[in-house]
Amino acid sequence: LRLRPALDLLSQVPDLPSPGDVIDLGCGDGAVGTDLRLRSGKRRLLGVDSSAAMLGRAETTGIYDALFQGDVAHWSPPAPPALVFSNAVLHWLPDHGALMPRLAGWLAPGGILAVQMPVQHAAPSHALLRDTAARLFPDRFDFSTWQPQVSEPAFYARLLAPLGAVNVWVTEYLQRLDPVADGHPIRHFTQSTAMRPIAEKLTGDEQAAFVEEYDAALQTAYPSDPDGSVLFGFRRLFFVLTLAG
Ligand SMILES: C[S@@+](CC[C@H](N)C(=O)[O-])C[C@H]1O[C@@H](n2cnc3c(N)ncnc32)[C@H](O)[C@@H]1O
Repeated sequence: LRLRPALDLLSQVPDLPSPGDVIDLGCGDGAVGTDLRLRSGKRRLLGVDSSAAMLGRAETTGIYDALFQGDVAHWSPPAPPALVFSNAVLHWLPDHGALMPRLAGWLAPGGILAVQMPVQHAAPSHALLRDTAARLFPDRFDFSTWQPQVSEPAFYARLLAPLGAVNVWVTEYLQRLDPVADGHPIRHFTQSTAMRPIAEKLTGDEQAAFVEEYDAALQTAYPSDPDGSVLFGFRRLFFVLTLAG
């Protein structure tokens, strides 16, 4: 389940131009490293991540030729790459209208920018986080002017079309989440990601009140099956940009 979107993205990456490194941008613990290595041939495979802990785990795979600690917002590669591959990272960064052309600007002629990002902000799993927080704690949460980091597919198609051939698609993965001992399985899924910025602004008692309301709202939006498991649709946006050679 974890690797599937990365492999779906990689399956759409065309043949790489001859010169240039392969960059795993936001490589994390190197989960995609083995598959990227297979596609890299004799090219160098470089990993970049902002987290020293993640890089330490990526290092133990022994797959990368070099690993760099850096923030995508400021890092740039040592030489024009053949492929920049970024799986489940760039949704953390703002201003995609400037970011994506900047990443494309790194590429060697004929180079490829391949990106996958979760695009779940409009689904009940994530909308209910905002609704519940704003309703229970209006002094701290106002999402009336909130904008998601990830835009609609057509935004990326229009933005990148002047740079080369662009392939944009969205896939909804229907996952079955196992029952959990307390609360709703989807809350256990979101609490380490999308829920974290909200929980950080709450006291322990407030967090408990929030969780109770969010769990109840989730149960209405995503009723559990008789065994306690839940079907959870999760949308991901993909694009592959190939520069002219
Ligand atoms: C969900 S993990 C994905 C890791 C890897 N790409 C994979 O598919 O297994 C997201 C990674 O992005 C990294 N990350 C988040 N924001 C970043 C940034 N601004 N610059 C560099 N890395 C970042 C995190 O440290 C984390 O390792």
